[in-house]
Amino acid sequence: MSFDVRPMTAADLPAVLQVQRQAYGDAYQESAEVLDAKRRRSPAACWVACDAQGVLGYVFAHDWPGAAPPPLHCPLPEVAAAQCAFLHDLAVVPRAHGRGVGGALFAAVRQWALGARHEALNLVSLVNAVRYWQQRGFAPLASADASAMLAYGDGACFMRLPLDG
Ligand SMILES: CC(C)(COP(=O)(O)OP(=O)(O)OC[C@H]1O[C@@H](n2cnc3c(N)ncnc32)[C@H](O)[C@@H]1OP(=O)(O)O)[C@@H](O)C(=O)NCCC(=O)NCCS
Repeated sequence: MSFDVRPMTAADLPAVLQVQRQAYGDAYQESAEVLDAKRRRSPAACWVACDAQGVLGYVFAHDWPGAAPPPLHCPLPEVAAAQCAFLHDLAVVPRAHGRGVGGALFAAVRQWALGARHEALNLVSLVNAVRYWQQRGFAPLASADASAMLAYGDGACFMRLPLDG
């Protein structure tokens, strides 16, 4: 399967929301407003993968301090120092699974985080994706804010990939 990875634009959001619904179902749908605010926070860190039929997958990332994940379902608070990157969400439509789309989107975020000289790339993994992230070098990390983890659901795991440059 051939596909291209390019920076996400505001015009991609309807298609991105459709991919999110396919990946997680209606229960996990985020609002277009909140997602676009994340994209605008770090536009160079948000990407889509597309083929001739449209958007196959997306990734949102942004700068964020390293001690705990950001709150979910609300606009990102302003922060004074953001020495880390946070990968908010990576999802691929089921028809494209296993063809390197997720890997290509992750590589784009990692490259951005390295270029921005972030110390580490953090994320919150859903319970069934922990192994996926471990295979990409992430390790579980205790969050400094246990209440921030509650919104991410049972079994969610705060994880970190140190970036050596
Ligand atoms: C996780 C996800 C993004 C992977 O996308 P993808 O395009 O299929 O990934 P790639 O093709 O780059 O990589 C596939 C590899 O990852 C492995 N993999 C995929 N999902 C996995 C999972 N949940 N746990 C462990 N390994 C997984 C595959 O077995 C395959 O391994 P291989 O390369 O050794 O054959 C995709 O399955 C998805 O959208 N899942 C639902 C959303 C989700 O859980 N996102 C993560 C949120 S924290």
